[in-house]
Amino acid sequence: MIWKRWTRAETAETATAEPATDAAALPTTGAPTPPRQPGAALNLDVAARPAFLDTLWREPAEMTRSQPLPRFSASASDDVETDDGDTLAARRRLALRDALGASQPVIGRESFAGRHDALSQLIQAIEQQRVHVVIYGERGIGKTSLVHVFAETAREARYLVLYGSCGTEAEFSAMFRSFAARIPRLYHRAVLPNSPEAEIGDNFDVMLSENFGPRELADVFSEVTGTRVIIILDEYDRVLDPAFRRDVAELIKNLSDRAARVQLVLTGVAQNLDELIGYAPSIRRNIVGLPMRPLSVAEVRELVGIGETAADLRYAEDTIGIITAMAGGSPYLVRLLAHHAGLTALEAGRSLVDEGDGRAAVEKVLTDWNASLPRRVQASLGREEAREHWQLLVASARAGSSADGFFGVEDVFTELGGSQPQATIERDLRRFTSAHDLLELHDLGGDLRFRFRYPGVSALLLMSAAMARITA
Ligand SMILES: Nc1ncnc2c1ncn2[C@@H]1O[C@H](COP(=O)(O)OP(=O)(O)OP(=O)(O)O)[C@@H](O)[C@H]1O
Ligand SMILES: [Mg+2]
Repeated sequence: MIWKRWTRAETAETATAEPATDAAALPTTGAPTPPRQPGAALNLDVAARPAFLDTLWREPAEMTRSQPLPRFSASASDDVETDDGDTLAARRRLALRDALGASQPVIGRESFAGRHDALSQLIQAIEQQRVHVVIYGERGIGKTSLVHVFAETAREARYLVLYGSCGTEAEFSAMFRSFAARIPRLYHRAVLPNSPEAEIGDNFDVMLSENFGPRELADVFSEVTGTRVIIILDEYDRVLDPAFRRDVAELIKNLSDRAARVQLVLTGVAQNLDELIGYAPSIRRNIVGLPMRPLSVAEVRELVGIGETAADLRYAEDTIGIITAMAGGSPYLVRLLAHHAGLTALEAGRSLVDEGDGRAAVEKVLTDWNASLPRRVQASLGREEAREHWQLLVASARAGSSADGFFGVEDVFTELGGSQPQATIERDLRRFTSAHDLLELHDLGGDLRFRFRYPGVSALLLMSAAMARITA
């Protein structure tokens, strides 16, 4: 998990260089830290508690009537509209947003960093092994971006690539009918190029009965000729209906048995293959699992480099170090942090994105995450008891980074390196388990299982701990 890596710093140059313990990063006294003034230098030294806590209750700055209301800096057609003559800076901001904006997957090669190995494995599985592929990994690791770039590459090789994103309500026949409706009937073995069927311009869906199942679909798909079809089912983990997954497994089996020229690529959030497709021994030899790993340090650099070129900026080595360490290999976080840091530099009229910009970016992300939590949760996090037990909470967040988020007292004990007796850990964890507090507690016949009520809280705790360690 990304969250786990924040505290282990596997890919981070900066963090590995600094073997500070979490304890060093945590508040040692209950004395309040003076609230940071807006605009004041960041105070992230070792003794400081995570700075975002001090922003919890900060009210918006007073605005006077004479100040103009904020306006868009560019039109919807991306034409820059400023009246202050700062058109160049506005253009660079837009270019930075296009290169590093983190809200959307990459759809073209020009903004895609690294992943040569994943792309070549995917191509190899489709082209050489002729198998179906399941791409899995944690949220935001780049699955959708990879399949978009793969689709572009496959289309260049004249594959017919069909992309579909699964929803919770995905229904087998509706979804696959829409795929069939995008395969021209011209590619059916029985249809000759100049025949009336080909002239009408029909698609494969006309050959399906009303409520077809996976076998019938495989029969129809096995008649594809003259091209190869790749069907991408993105966000497969969101499908709730077990019947849909059963049908897809059945389809894969039938397509493989018939050596059809149709291959499936599934993607989803999962830690392993079984979690995504279920236990399906019948299709194991027909699929290849492709786990998405965290970005390497070199890939983080490449990604930041895309922003540098686009906006004519340069990120200092220290800034890249902070971004690398804090992102833990998540392309989403690399973009988010690099984008914020670059914007701060541009706003200050600088082309060098320095370490301070990097730290400001991390704090902005933490503050935004915190603000997105319900007010009640923010209050729970900000209270003195939470501050006192920060180390325990961070260890709990680390312990709870498995797929379902549950952890036990012994997991926290291990994360704390055995430094506290289990009885003390249990007593302290229980402080946070009352109704609406940070943790929920399930007592399964004496086996205590804890979990953070809001997953965002553990992410926040881990990132703030990593931040504190970097600055230690
Ligand atoms: N190789 C890459 N190069 C540049 N940016 C990337 C790359 N991979 C992912 N990103 C960026 O990271 C973010 C998350 O990527 P993406 O949506 O592809 O991940 P995902 O694994 O599909 O996420 P989810 O689990 O939420 O579906 C996006 O902002 C995307 O632009
Ligand atoms: Mg995705």
